Order: sequence, then structure tokens, then C-alpha cells
Amino acid sequence: MKHFPLLILALAVVTASHAARRADYRIIPLPKSVQADSTRVFTLQDGMGIAYDSTSEEQTRIAGFLAAWVKQATGLSLSLTPSDGKAALRLVIGEPVTKKKKARKGSPADSLTAQQQEAYTIRVTAQGIALQASRGVGLFRASQTLRKALPAQAADAQPIEFPYATIQDEPRFAYRGVLLDCARHFFSTDVLKQYLDLMALHGCNQFHWHLTEDQGWRFEVKALPQLAREGSIRQETVVGRNTGVYDGLPYGGYYTQQDCRDIVRYAAERYINIIPEIDLPGHMQSALHVLPHLGCTGGPYPVRTYWGVSDEVLCPGNPQTMEFLRTVLGELCDVFPSKYIHIGGDECPKKRWQSCPKCQAKIRELGLKDDGKHSPENQLQTWVNHQVEQFLAGLGRDIIGWDEILEGGLSGQSIVMSWRGTKGGIEAARQGHRVIMSPNVFGYIDHPQYKDEADKIPTAGRYIVSCSKIYSFEPLIPEELRPEEQQYILGPQTSLWTEHVAFPQHLFYMLLPRLGAMSEVQWCHPEQKDFEDFRLRLPRLMQLYDRIGIKYCRQVE
Ligand code: ACM
Ligand code: ZN
Repeated sequence: MKHFPLLILALAVVTASHAARRADYRIIPLPKSVQADSTRVFTLQDGMGIAYDSTSEEQTRIAGFLAAWVKQATGLSLSLTPSDGKAALRLVIGEPVTKKKKARKGSPADSLTAQQQEAYTIRVTAQGIALQASRGVGLFRASQTLRKALPAQAADAQPIEFPYATIQDEPRFAYRGVLLDCARHFFSTDVLKQYLDLMALHGCNQFHWHLTEDQGWRFEVKALPQLAREGSIRQETVVGRNTGVYDGLPYGGYYTQQDCRDIVRYAAERYINIIPEIDLPGHMQSALHVLPHLGCTGGPYPVRTYWGVSDEVLCPGNPQTMEFLRTVLGELCDVFPSKYIHIGGDECPKKRWQSCPKCQAKIRELGLKDDGKHSPENQLQTWVNHQVEQFLAGLGRDIIGWDEILEGGLSGQSIVMSWRGTKGGIEAARQGHRVIMSPNVFGYIDHPQYKDEADKIPTAGRYIVSCSKIYSFEPLIPEELRPEEQQYILGPQTSLWTEHVAFPQHLFYMLLPRLGAMSEVQWCHPEQKDFEDFRLRLPRLMQLYDRIGIKYCRQVE
């Protein structure tokens, strides 16, 4: 009996190490359906193979990703064995796995919805693990699920037990976005690739790339080389939240078109579309610095060195302004294949337009009158949006604008991105416009993630955007929108603004694990969501962050 405590200890160790060697399919975001039998397992061992169709470049790439992810998490080396019917892991293109929903209006009746294209099934049996989907993107999502199911605390190449299971999965929303502001601070393409990898890990599929701001122009325009060369550099940067103290250090950086193409390709390989944003006609002071004749006053305009909204905006009364926008957006569309182009539209003060003879002449020419709802100047902004929309439509693109584009009356087919809460999105959906929900209070992750964080690290305002706050967001706003209006909500987005985020380590700390919480808003149906359950699943995802070598916030509230 005196060895009894030792026996207990030994059993505990065996049990603990046993648990550590098991896959767990309850990952983040939670799959739609997991049926597992924990009494039977398939054991994945070092040296086993992954089979796939080697004539498919796409499958070859996905098999390579899967092998690399398994190695990263566990240390197990899997071999790529294209035609081995007995391989432990198999990628299979097959029938759609979930029941067909009615196809969207305007698409052929037999086509898959965007969500069905991403659907997949994973089956774990005595024969091994089969990943099946109708499209490559589904195989990619299935591979990420398998990756996140792995225990990732030690890369010691020990075998991993996979309980027999059938996992069926498909995202709730077609649009699952993440914004990064690369204009207030510039991040290298290497950092962007890490950011995209993390988006893909969380099942996100739209990268909203905020490229231009008062504080810096970051996109190379070949017809206007001085725009990026000079417009990307500010002479110094205010310390903190407009304290009046400046660092005295010139700051700059921009992306060449080659950089952008490289990022587009990298993202596409991870099934992420890049939506570039040229914010217009406000947030343009860096462009005005280079092209002062495009402003109402003629300048001079320094590239702005502090935060907030600038009164200095483009002058729509000047025909050269529209020519400038066509040049910039034309080159943007050469580089970015995205169907959606973001034209900003937020925070454009009308102060200069009200006293600018050219703007007032344009208002008279267009016959814009205060109609009780929209001022002539707000309607002038709608006219700008409409011009840009028509130009981009000619290139086969649709525009997205921040919710201020409602203020002068929505033009054409514009998609509204609701950021000042959900009000703008609700109004736009009621008008039959497509909407992306990125409400600041639920999704602006430049804000603190827990109560006293703002005392410790630089953040935006003092309202808290915690994991639980994000998690509680319901993008369809059922209390406000009828089902036929809800269909216009494409999906939710989280946005990382970078006035106060200058370094990559800080960037990832702000992103994680809040992206995990947002990923369940984007991927999961309301009846699946449970914050306490999310918290229980989070440690395994955090192990993976650790293995990837990314620092994140450990305080989850
Ligand atoms: C915004 O946050 N100004 C879109
Ligand atoms: Zn003007």
C-alpha cells in the first residue's frame, strides 16, 4: 500500500501524456457538425503518407501545406505519396458534402453558393483520415481543421491518436473580413504574409488593405511616381494620442506594384481575396502634399503627423481631381483582381467645399439643392462616389464605401461597410444594398481587450473590445432586419487600425486571440455559439500560436 500514491502519480502521468497525444476536433472556429467516437482511434505516425492528385497544382500545394503544418505542430514528418491508395491522409475532390441551399438570385440553379464551395467533410476511420470537398478551397479548410485539432505543445514526433469521426463543415457567412491599416504605420510584406497566414488559420477570406491616409500614401502609382516616393513620408509622428509631443523622426514606406502582386498571389494561395482601399475624397492629405492643386485651398499640405480627421480633402470642383482618381484606381485594378474595390468615403469634412468657388460652381452645375435630408455638399460626395463607381464598373468592379456614403444618398450598387455601429448597415440593407458589418464597438481591435490594458500599452480610445464583446455580436441584427433584408448582409469584419500600433509584435498581440472570437462570429451559426465553451477551446489554439512563435494577449475577458 505504501506505493499507492506513486501508482496514482504514474497513472496520472500516463493519462496526462495520453490526453496530450490526442487530436481534438472541437477547434476554433467550431465546425458545423462533429460526430466523434472516442473509443476508437486512428494513430498517425512519423513517416506516414499524404495522398492527393499530383496532376493538380492546387492539391499539390495543399498537401505541402498540410505536411508542413503537421510538422510544425507535432514534429511528425509525413511524406507526399500522391498515388498511394493506402496513405494515412487522403485529399479527395468529391460531391458537395452538405445539402444544397437555394442558389442566390442570378446564379445558375445548379451552382454552389459561396459557402457550399468552401464546405468539406473529414472522415477518420481505421483506414486513415480522408479530407473531401467539392473544391480546393474546401480541402484547404479541411486541412486547417486537422491542423488545429492537433495537440501542439511539443514537436517531439510522437504518434497522434485521432478518434474516429465524421466532421461536416461549411461557413455561415460568405464574407469573413479583416482590415489592416498599413497607412498610419507601415508593415513589411513579410509581416503581411504572417497576417494572411493567421487569417487563413481562422478561416477568414477577405483582407481589406487600407493603403492610403492623411499620414502616408503606401501604393505605388507608376504614372505618378512622386506620389508614393514623397507622399509616403511624414516628417515626424505625434507621441501617443495627440499629446502635442512629437518624436522628430521621419517615417515612411510604401508597397511597389510588384510587392502588391506578390501579396495578391500569396493570399490567393490561401484562399484570401485582397480588397484594396484608396480612401477618398477625405483622408487624402498625403496625396495633397504631392499634388496640392487637387485641394480646395492649394496648400501647402504637409503629410499629416498626428491623428484625427483632416479638413484638407480632395476638391471635386477641379476636373483634374477625377482624372487623378481614374489614374490611381486604374493602376490599382491592374494589380488587384478583386471584384470589390474599397473607396473609403468616411470622415470627409465639407468645410473647404462650402467656401471653395470651384466646388460651389460644381454644385450649381449639377443642380444640387438641399432636399431637407442631404446637404448639397453631401450630395457632391455622392456625385464623386458615382463617378468612381461608374469608372470601376467599366473595369468590372463593385465599390465598397464606409457608411458615410449613405449621407448624400447611396449611389448605384454600392456596398456599405457599417462602422459607426450597425445603424448604417441596417439602413443600407433596408434600401436593398449589400452590407458588410464592421461596427467599431464589436470589431475595432485597436481598442483595449481588457479593463486596464490601456494603462499598460498604447491603444485607441478607452472603450473595451474584449473577446466576449466581439463574440456577442450577431451580424444579421434580427431585431432590426426582416429575413429578406438579412440576405443583404454579406458578413462581418474586424478592423485593426494602427495609429497606436507601430511594431509587428504589438500588431499580433492586438489581433490574437480576438481574431479567434471574431472567427466564430464569421463562421458559426448562433445556436453553436457559447463563449464559455469558446474559452475552453482556446488553450489549444494558443498552443498553436506558441508553436508558430506569435505573441498574443493571454488575458481573455
Ligand atoms: C473609420 O473608422 N473611419 C472607417
Ligand atoms: Zn473645392
